[in-house]
Amino acid sequence: MKLSTTKELFVWANKHQRAVCAFNVNNMELIQAVTTAADELGVPIILQISKGARNYAQLPYLMKLIEAAVSTIKIPVAVHLDHGDSFELCKEVLDAGFTSVMIDGSHLPFEDNIALTKKVVDYANKTGASVEGELGTIGGIEEEKSNEKSLYTDPTTVKEYVERTGVTSLAISIGTAHGAFKYTTPDPQLRFDILEQINREIPHIPLVLHGASSVTPADLDTINAHGGQIKNAIGVSESVLAKSIPLGIRKINIDSDLRLAFTAALRAHFVANPEHFDPRQYLGAARAHVSELVKHKLLAFSVLSPQVA
Ligand code: G3H
Ligand code: 13P
Ligand code: ZN
Repeated sequence: MKLSTTKELFVWANKHQRAVCAFNVNNMELIQAVTTAADELGVPIILQISKGARNYAQLPYLMKLIEAAVSTIKIPVAVHLDHGDSFELCKEVLDAGFTSVMIDGSHLPFEDNIALTKKVVDYANKTGASVEGELGTIGGIEEEKSNEKSLYTDPTTVKEYVERTGVTSLAISIGTAHGAFKYTTPDPQLRFDILEQINREIPHIPLVLHGASSVTPADLDTINAHGGQIKNAIGVSESVLAKSIPLGIRKINIDSDLRLAFTAALRAHFVANPEHFDPRQYLGAARAHVSELVKHKLLAFSVLSPQVA
């Protein structure tokens, strides 16, 4: 299986001034949905696997599924660890063939974050894999781990961090948040002023935007109209997210929108087809719907003539 590193995909993204989408996957249907959609549009993608996804599906299964998917398509694909929380986990997935890892030391004191990240970079350099570091606290799951008051990345720290660690790319916090309940009021504004300062400090480093699900209103409506109860979920619109690309964002992380799309299709399918009990029927419907969502994201952020609503 010939996988790309994220470093290689960032060369493409820089050349075209676009972002590579990184989709979280944890089963066959998601892997197929993402890879076939990207292949149809002819743009590279990152398949990312969290510690939770690794615990759920186990690495040997995920690697074989990805190997099968990559053997049927032509576009470059990188396999990336999302939010690695220890050197040991990063080492485990690099040894299993991942071409990129994130080491998330953002909750640690600056010097400790640098030391942990550098240790991972030194190991990754042996296989040529890429490493994503993080500075700042992205909302949603990271605040409780952090003692810092400010959620945003401090632009005065980024140059020293990337120079001393040697990371390939840097995840930053400018106001996005993980999950489906990102904000309490609609129409959130991101701190593009901070992003601009960061990009000025480290113009050669690809920047990564986590928490980039838009929490697709149509999928939420479908879920709630078919027995679901997901109330007050709010994301960031794709038109706001797209403004980050000219300011140096080269990787856009999306997980929650895939979960919502999968769930919406399943709920609608079961209500429309109460007699169905063959998993291929309802999982096939979910896979097709996720694939449409992925195409929509790629059209907004990755294809060379963006189509943002
Ligand atoms: O940023 C977190 C990702 O959405 C992964 O979530 O840890 O539930 O797999 P997870
Ligand atoms: P969302 O929860 O907004 O999809 O963010 C996913 C993410 O950042 C994965 O690292
Ligand atoms: Zn994240």
